[in-house]
Amino acid sequence: MNILNQIGNTPLVRLNYINPYPNVDIYVKLEYFNPSGSVKDRIVNHIINDAEKNGLLKKGGTIVENTSGNTGAAVAMIAAIKGYKAILTMPDKVSIEKQNALKAFGAEIVVTPTSALPDAPDHYVNTARRIASEIPNSFMINQYDNYKNPEAHYLSTGPEIWKQTEGKVTHFVASGSTGGTITGVSKYLKEQNPNVFCLMPDPIGSIYYEYFKTGKINHDSIGTYHVEGVGEDHIAKAMDFSLVDEMYQFTDKDAFSISRRLTMEEGIFGGGTGGANVWGALKLAKTLTKPAVIVTVIPDNGVKYLSKMYNKEWLNNNNFNF
Ligand SMILES: Cc1ncc(COP(=O)(O)O)c(C=O)c1O
Repeated sequence: MNILNQIGNTPLVRLNYINPYPNVDIYVKLEYFNPSGSVKDRIVNHIINDAEKNGLLKKGGTIVENTSGNTGAAVAMIAAIKGYKAILTMPDKVSIEKQNALKAFGAEIVVTPTSALPDAPDHYVNTARRIASEIPNSFMINQYDNYKNPEAHYLSTGPEIWKQTEGKVTHFVASGSTGGTITGVSKYLKEQNPNVFCLMPDPIGSIYYEYFKTGKINHDSIGTYHVEGVGEDHIAKAMDFSLVDEMYQFTDKDAFSISRRLTMEEGIFGGGTGGANVWGALKLAKTLTKPAVIVTVIPDNGVKYLSKMYNKEWLNNNNFNF
């Protein structure tokens, strides 16, 4: 028995104050109850267990990954318990709290420029690949292209939601980066009930929305935004768009304003992507005429953003007027 036994089985909580639509119940799955504080414990644990079983990760090995912080924290925590070395690359927009959390577990971090384009050698994904190729006995989690990532959600998050709602869930909402959450959960829920509707909010500046709508990758739509951990500048292989029924585009303001309301009105202290997900759930609820049960996810903990969206000075400096 160790901390890894506490991964998953996170609480599902009803929103009672910020949902104005009486015929729609909105529930949020609090993924910040996982031991390293995010949804990513599920996938990293599953991928590392599989790599050990198949001899891809051996005693004394090094785990390398590109991460916006949460996957890194999960890798750093599990590496600490299991005696592996961890090297994590991340873009410099990642909050200082997230960077320091990885160091606290003893991991090494390599910070790269957020502005580096996907094909640039100093992009955080390419940097991780280079490091992994240079270090013997290294293993990459490869969360973007590893089908074990959605499989972790198919095997745990999806069944938990089905059980916790007693099969009453009608809609699922999750913004995505690797797409592991939306893909794995949607697959499981649609297998139980093909009518479950799956919605993916996507930040303006990500290529996913246009790809979903037109099938085209438009590099001109790549832009920067402050929400950390969702949206992408490349198409992840872990993401299966055939399971997504609709996408909405959101702004930083949409996400941050709802995150702050969740904290101040519901006592749910999550990160910006939790706000984006609930923003999507509320926008969806507004369109529904029949009773519905929407489930969405709070992927990580608000503590990770105390210097950013929960900081008045940072908000003012970035022209957010909350
Ligand atoms: C804060 C946060 N929210 C949401 C996600 C999206 O999850 P997924 O990669 O399963 O699409 C991530 C992934 O990095 C994240 O860090």
